[in-house]
Amino acid sequence: MLSTFLAYLQFKLGAQFDNSGHAISDTSWSAQLQGSERLWMLLEGTHVLTLMLFAGSILFVDLRLLGVTFKNTPVSKVTDTLIPYTVAGFIVMLLTGAALFFANPLEYYHNVIFRLKFIFLIAAAANIFYFHYRVQANRAAWDNQAKPPASARRAAAFSLALWIGVIVAGRFAAYDWFSCDTAQGFVAAAAQCSERSVTLAAVETELAP
Ligand code: HEM
Repeated sequence: MLSTFLAYLQFKLGAQFDNSGHAISDTSWSAQLQGSERLWMLLEGTHVLTLMLFAGSILFVDLRLLGVTFKNTPVSKVTDTLIPYTVAGFIVMLLTGAALFFANPLEYYHNVIFRLKFIFLIAAAANIFYFHYRVQANRAAWDNQAKPPASARRAAAFSLALWIGVIVAGRFAAYDWFSCDTAQGFVAAAAQCSERSVTLAAVETELAP
């Protein structure tokens, strides 16, 4: 179902159609973005550069929570100073990430490393909510402590590990090492490669060369 919708985005949305109603290959908006000389690179460059702002600000908050850096500065001061940069970075990463995804939606959706990136992303978001609503609830009691309590340090360690996971998976998603063209067994099942084959076969009959 989702696969069919993503195939529509990838092959048909914005495409030109021939006289018999077949979408002409490589004319969809998605294909044009993928084949663009500069736009895709500009988007990816922005995605990666914003990573510095996003991951850099998270790194310093997590190191403070772990009791490694800025030990004499209240935790609230470190977070209040850096969170606007994290939020700004996240918004740009989300927008540029969505645009990059749009350039090749069916392939990213069936890419096992890209799926891993999303699992890390969701886990990191859940960790933020857990920190915000549970751990931080009694922050006033440990705001000035050089070494915050174990629950805060644990959330910071999870945060670091999960964001590193997102970044590493993001980097490796670019390679086709585990692509559905060669994947077998567990990897093929995790990426739902058989669903991709069915979707592609259906698309092929609707495309003009
Ligand atoms: C804030 C969290 C995110 C982080 C830390 C992150 C990190 C990365 C990294 C490190 C890369 C590799 C860039 C390179 O080639 O060197 C990347 C690429 C990419 N990201 Fe993200 N990303 C994030 C969010 C997203 C979101 C929300 C989406 C989609 C909705 C997304 C979609 C993509 C795509 C499609 C690529 C291109 C992969 C390729 O080269 O083919 N990212 N990201």
